[in-house]
Amino acid sequence: MSFKGRSFITLLDYTPEEIKKLLDLSTRLKKEKYDGIPHKVLTDKNIVILFQKDSTRTRCAFEVGAMDLGMGVTYLGPNGSQMNKKESVADTARVLGRMYDGIEFRGYKQSDVETLGKYAGVPVWNGLTDMYHPTQILADFLTILEYKGTLEGVKFTYVGDARNNMGNSLMIGAAKMGMDFTALAPRSLWPDQELIDKCRQIGKETGAKLTFTEDVAEGTLNADVIYTDVWVSMGEPTEVWEKRVKLLADYQVDMQMIKNAKDDVIFMHCLPAFHDSQTDVGREMSSKLGRRYQKVATGEMEVTDEVFESEHSVVFQEAENRMHTIKAVMYATLK
Ligand code: CP
Ligand code: NVA
Repeated sequence: MSFKGRSFITLLDYTPEEIKKLLDLSTRLKKEKYDGIPHKVLTDKNIVILFQKDSTRTRCAFEVGAMDLGMGVTYLGPNGSQMNKKESVADTARVLGRMYDGIEFRGYKQSDVETLGKYAGVPVWNGLTDMYHPTQILADFLTILEYKGTLEGVKFTYVGDARNNMGNSLMIGAAKMGMDFTALAPRSLWPDQELIDKCRQIGKETGAKLTFTEDVAEGTLNADVIYTDVWVSMGEPTEVWEKRVKLLADYQVDMQMIKNAKDDVIFMHCLPAFHDSQTDVGREMSSKLGRRYQKVATGEMEVTDEVFESEHSVVFQEAENRMHTIKAVMYATLK
């Protein structure tokens, strides 16, 4: 099993054994960090991280992970580089690949991260596109392992926009790792049929079960994990908010869902989350839509504050695990 020189663009490119190996490496690096054992094993290397969209966790995870490994890091934001404006993605890739040992990309089109991977000649890591968010899944699975001890057979329910980057990538990851995956969402927000078929095919080999339902009681019954994400993703126009709130109001993760799941159910979210009135967007949407849609009146959208702050919620451990798992991906593909 060799990782060196490989890109990390979609989980579809990795076998269950390889994913397991990356999770084992993450656990080791996390322990070393906690025990104060330095692991600056890549001191002669430098990476560049390209962000066309905002980020807190992914950017910081790449920066801290790289620095812990002894690497230099350059951040290029939505403005400030020539990419896309005066220079194509393919040309940018060929320039950066000659200066850096690895490239992270967060942007819109999956085809852009694939083009980088094709032309850079060094590993390219997908830090989120409209279609996939594969490094997030490693952090999510490490967190589930820490709480449940296994991934196989874990009853995992994803609630909300099941055809966004998170819905797609979690379904792929669950299929690869033999999980019991449910997408609980209105039918119009189920993943693309072609991707479902691909995942069902993977599931035949791994024993994974994939269920799609619009029924909240059925979808959350006896769940080990309830997971949700924002109703409107980065890059979508603000006009879709009202339509999405109308579609998803009944899918807001609340205590009734938690009570319908197993007693020790964990609540997960990739973050950032709208669970109270402490964000600009949350306040704006609650003042615009709160009178028509009671559930969002207080700024709570995809999850209630009660669930988010409850003992079931593991979201901050999950966020921390972004760093340990991203570090493992860089380590494995560069060392
Ligand atoms: N979960 C996640 O990717 O967070 P950021 O947008 O803050 O990177
Ligand atoms: N679906 C969300 C994930 C954020 C980490 C988005 O793309 O905005």
